[in-house]
Amino acid sequence: MEYTMEHYRQSADDLRSRIGSFRPEVFLVLGSGLGFLAEQVEDACAIPYTEIPHFPASTAPGHKGRLVFGLLEGRRVAVMQGRTHYYEGYSLQDVTFAVRVVRLLGAEAMVVTNACGCVRSDWQAGSLMLIQDHIKLCLDSPLRGANPEAFGPRFPDMSHVYTPRLQDIARESAKALGIALKEGVYMFFPGPQYETPAEVRAARLLGADAVGMSTVPEVIAARHCGMQVLGLSLLTNMASGILAQPLSEQEVLDAAAAASEQFSRLVRQCLCRM
Ligand code: HPA
Repeated sequence: MEYTMEHYRQSADDLRSRIGSFRPEVFLVLGSGLGFLAEQVEDACAIPYTEIPHFPASTAPGHKGRLVFGLLEGRRVAVMQGRTHYYEGYSLQDVTFAVRVVRLLGAEAMVVTNACGCVRSDWQAGSLMLIQDHIKLCLDSPLRGANPEAFGPRFPDMSHVYTPRLQDIARESAKALGIALKEGVYMFFPGPQYETPAEVRAARLLGADAVGMSTVPEVIAARHCGMQVLGLSLLTNMASGILAQPLSEQEVLDAAAAASEQFSRLVRQCLCRM
């Protein structure tokens, strides 16, 4: 459905009535392997998506769909515990609904993480990557349709999508922790099928270092409404065609689990310094 300002406002008003004077500073959107950070939020107030007006709620069984408000590394955060993806059948407006609502609650920055495929044969699976920029050639956009001017302009500038100051913070954080952090371009594919080897070669030719099925919609919505953005990727696997073996979801989940400790230390360190 197409949301109007009224929908976002009603959602934000409802949340305000539950969280009192708490105002999130940072919106955290966590990808595979990092979801457990939502459990580590202190003084947490967790609100199921199903209880928030207009909020697109996942119907997947066993799926924890909650917005968690509280403190992480002393920062006031709102964390999405359970994320929606375009490939699940949600529209890009659904996928980005929470970004605008949390913006209305006062958040000025978004930290987004994901698991993705590595398209560079000179890098290894298991690496962490700071997102410097992205490519999205699929037709849809979360900003398509009527533009709620209160959030941002009809044709928003995308020249510094990933906030330079936050990129510096991520570099410094990785250095302080002794974590190797690659840097590169993330290319969005709508999924749910993994890419073909030819698509991966095309992505590489176009300048991509990683391919994945999330993050970019949320990032576009966040930039549109003036939020600062930090994007961090875990390269869980070599993308299709790079190795002589098929991709499996299990490989992705195992790699995400193996790197989760290091990845969460990096995210926490970034929060500390933001
Ligand atoms: N492609 C797209 N999305 C992904 C991949 C991939 O190789 N790995 C994890 N998410």
